[in-house]
Amino acid sequence: MSKYVVIGGNSSQGLARKIAKKLKAGYVNTSTRTFPDGESKITIKKIPKKKIIVVVQSTFPPVDSNLLHLLSIISQARKYSSKIYAVIPYLGYARQDREFLDGEVVTVSVIGKMLKSVGTKKVIVVDIHSKLALKQLGISSENVSVVSNLANYIKKLKLKDPLVVSPDQGGKERAGEFADALKTDFIALKKHRDRKTGKINIITTKASVKDRDLILVDDMISTGGSIIKATQFLKKQKCRRVYVACTHGLFVNGAEKKIKQAGVTQIISTNTIPSNSSKVDVSKILAESLL
Ligand code: R5P
Repeated sequence: MSKYVVIGGNSSQGLARKIAKKLKAGYVNTSTRTFPDGESKITIKKIPKKKIIVVVQSTFPPVDSNLLHLLSIISQARKYSSKIYAVIPYLGYARQDREFLDGEVVTVSVIGKMLKSVGTKKVIVVDIHSKLALKQLGISSENVSVVSNLANYIKKLKLKDPLVVSPDQGGKERAGEFADALKTDFIALKKHRDRKTGKINIITTKASVKDRDLILVDDMISTGGSIIKATQFLKKQKCRRVYVACTHGLFVNGAEKKIKQAGVTQIISTNTIPSNSSKVDVSKILAESLL
């Protein structure tokens, strides 16, 4: 009999059920009723027996609402157990890990304080944006890497002379790990993002990618701006096909379509955020991280 019981928050019920199954643990659902003024009534459908309670809830858009759901469920679950683990497969606000411009709030650390205050014992996240973000949470936490799971999917595609490409220098380590798993090499482009306008430019001017199949690897895709700019640059350098592998596919404002229009052959993401592109299931590796 498992020592866990898993509660699925509104954003991650499919994934939560799979994690419960892999842990051979009980699963408890939650329901949400939204009032005309936008407030929601969240209910844990069955009182979990006193065990370690694992609350699974990604905080993709609507980010603030999904975050409040997570905090509310943990706060209620705390009445049933003193050990609450928060599995947050996609942690929104992780990019807000430092004060880039004076006065900017490091919201990821505010989230850490809130998680602590409602009684979270430990946080488990998947491919968090940066090591700094994990540190800023300021709570016992673990980052689970699913790079090898994404790489295993890519292996099956039998690409021609594959090269792993990070769209920016920040993703260098991830690209290296991905390339190791594929037993190939990698490069990292130089990207500039205007901190005020958000405009992105690739400042790398040359890359040896001719006739190679490329895998653009990133932790997350939001608007698709970074991937589109990188693809346009790489196509100009006469690469062969471009594949995109990311852990968290937010795909806001029709990003999937725009990325395909830029010439990407296939986008592969995971089910930390469910979408048409989420081909890689992270439930097994998350369950294993709890064992
Ligand atoms: C940035 O450093 C991240 O790793 C992603 O590259 C970025 O946040 C993706 O955002 P977008 O799709 O809007 O360019």
